[in-house]
Amino acid sequence: MSEAEVRELLQPCTNLVGGIIHACHRLMREFGYISVDQKHILADIFNLSVAEVSGVISFYHDFKTEPQPSKLLRICTAEACQANRSRDLVAAVESHLGSKIPCQTADGETTVSFVYCLGLCPNGPAVEINGQLVSNATADQVLSHL
Ligand code: FES
Repeated sequence: MSEAEVRELLQPCTNLVGGIIHACHRLMREFGYISVDQKHILADIFNLSVAEVSGVISFYHDFKTEPQPSKLLRICTAEACQANRSRDLVAAVESHLGSKIPCQTADGETTVSFVYCLGLCPNGPAVEINGQLVSNATADQVLSHL
């Protein structure tokens, strides 16, 4: 996508409150990450410095600055899910992969990481598998995706 096309993609965000956040979401949906060149475009469009744009992007864990593996599995380890034994899921995954989370599968196709609340607190443990939320997750369910 050319720079002009990226600017056109982001243009509708410029008149929104918190427009840079909307613009970052658009870039994430379109490209899966926000490149250095796109940071410069964001800075120009929103009349910010590149450092300020980098500060916004780095504040939110879901905004990535590098291409991401094709699959993402996140296990909630916030308090409610811990009370519902999310640590058992963590132990099962770490035992299966032979490494501590955050980590990737041996083929590099799946990244496993923690997340701190997915909004499914009463039905934990909760996990997110490739954007799909799963409540009452079991170790077998999680391991079947690794
Ligand atoms: S604490 Fe896990 S979903 Fe809220």
